[in-house]
Amino acid sequence: MTERMSQSQPERDYIPGLGKHFLQPLYDVAHSVFGLHPIHLKMIALAELRDGQQVLDVGCGTGNLLRSIGKQSRKAELVGLDPDPNALSRASRKARRAGLAMRLDRGFAQELPYPDGSFDRVFSSLMLHHLDSPSKDALLAEVRRVLRPDGLLVLADMVLDEHGHGHRPGARDRMRDNVGDAVSQRIAAAGFAVEPTRTMALRIGGKVGIELARPSGPAQE
Ligand SMILES: C[S@@+](CC[C@H](N)C(=O)[O-])C[C@H]1O[C@@H](n2cnc3c(N)ncnc32)[C@H](O)[C@@H]1O
Repeated sequence: MTERMSQSQPERDYIPGLGKHFLQPLYDVAHSVFGLHPIHLKMIALAELRDGQQVLDVGCGTGNLLRSIGKQSRKAELVGLDPDPNALSRASRKARRAGLAMRLDRGFAQELPYPDGSFDRVFSSLMLHHLDSPSKDALLAEVRRVLRPDGLLVLADMVLDEHGHGHRPGARDRMRDNVGDAVSQRIAAAGFAVEPTRTMALRIGGKVGIELARPSGPAQE
């Protein structure tokens, strides 16, 4: 695992996987209880990965999506980024056990520590609702910057009904932006052509929208 927090990158607050740091050891249990694996498999199928592609997972947490990608595409070059060192340690152990090589960086979605145009595929799964609205825009601008012109963003996040039923108040507030077409409109505003949202149900806890987006036109400043 690499620790790459650049000098210019400020330490920021962040919301860990289950909302509280002490719950982190339970993340993978929650992952299977909520039924996230089928969502990850759908994201991978939509991404149409090819050998040798450079793949980034922003907010990779304990590395479940990267592990599934690596098992299907042994020749993809895998990079995961997350601010949570405990999640990254777990991701690193799981990758080793699975015999997968991946680079894991500690960092923040708002300032990706990668050169322009360095990835063919950028994934992000259930991370967007951990960010406030300006940070969501910063993330999308960064994804646009690090994606190759023919690259693809595959992003999944909770879909909120207008009343936010089934979500805790804090999470509900951060998901206010996730009603209707708001996520795809936000992605489009960052300089992407966005396909219609695919929606899937979790086993528990509501629905997830999957967005597929390709760079289109000049990047927004
Ligand atoms: C609900 S978990 C999802 C983890 C993983 N993507 C998955 O699908 O299992 C949200 C993750 O976003 C990470 N996160 C929170 N703020 C972040 C930020 N500013 N930049 C990148 N990741 C962040 C958390 O540490 C956590 O690992």
